Amino acid sequence: MVSYKDLGLVNTREMFAKAIEGGYAIPAFNFNNMEQMQAIISACVEASSPVILQVSSGARKYANQTLLRYMAQGAVEYAKELGKNIPIVLHLDHGNSFELCKSCIDMGFSSVMIDGSSLPYEENVALTKKVVEYAHQFDVTVEGELGVLAGVEDEVAAEHSHYTDPNDVVDFVSKTGVDSLAISIGTSHGANKFKPEQCTRNAEGILVPPPLRFDILKEIEKRIPGFPIVLHGSSSVPQEYVKIINSHGGALKDAVGIPEEQLREAAKSAVCKINIDSDGRLAMTAAVRKVFVDSPAEFDPRKYLGPAREELKKLYKHKCENVLGSAGKA
Ligand code: G3H
Ligand code: 13P
Ligand code: ZN
Repeated sequence: MVSYKDLGLVNTREMFAKAIEGGYAIPAFNFNNMEQMQAIISACVEASSPVILQVSSGARKYANQTLLRYMAQGAVEYAKELGKNIPIVLHLDHGNSFELCKSCIDMGFSSVMIDGSSLPYEENVALTKKVVEYAHQFDVTVEGELGVLAGVEDEVAAEHSHYTDPNDVVDFVSKTGVDSLAISIGTSHGANKFKPEQCTRNAEGILVPPPLRFDILKEIEKRIPGFPIVLHGSSSVPQEYVKIINSHGGALKDAVGIPEEQLREAAKSAVCKINIDSDGRLAMTAAVRKVFVDSPAEFDPRKYLGPAREELKKLYKHKCENVLGSAGKA
């Protein structure tokens, strides 16, 4: 059993309280490897932003749980070496069982998500409550979810989305004891968040998605004032990356995300954690593809992972400074 406190990590409690009070959101960036971790930490140190390092169960399988724990501990030391002891959370993204959440807590995670959103309501309540009871013994914070996001990724799949019902939130939060609640108001996972027929097209022919359901968010906030809300599926799918990818041998069709202005708006409310994974994937892929096409003789991984890391860092800093408003809040 390793306590996150011994690794220099923090849980989300104080971070979220300050974010709600200050009208900004904490970035939750997913990582699977060293370059992504370096980019996240160096960007957040330069922006002086608190950060949530987020690990999915797929990432845990990919990178190895022991290595991930030491990487998170390394991230804390790396931030200090770069000159700023920013608050860092190690969070399990989309935990799907009590056993997985327990194992992460026992391995040094400071926060876990138990995603029972696809279960019948009472089963979601029971599972979430069980995780909360275990986690709180170790001062680990827990995110639950109500409502279903559409989208398909390695470990997260849902055919049909449905919005969070504001009538459920008081009951869910009080019965489970969760520390934060992920809701569904029109975001979705991946780089193809909406079907073209759900969108309109602007003058340049770029897909414009339907707006987020701020009316539902307001209704939820009314029922649980000041309670930390989380938005998943919040990548904006920058079209400049899509263009680079497609002009350098890629084949991304109809990729569309959530406009950054809408995320900025959400961050001003009780939304205090915004999850971004796909934008990082696009930034990395664009940078790597560019090197492969422009310099085909290159075969030193540092020559393509280095530029990918630089592009990621730029993206993450931009998110903290211009979208989430977390810059300067560490
Ligand atoms: O919401 C899911 C994250 O983007 C993680 O995706 O399961 O493919 O690692 P993954
Ligand atoms: P995106 O696919 O929009 O980056 O969402 C990531 C996410 O919600 C991780 O939990
Ligand atoms: Zn998610």
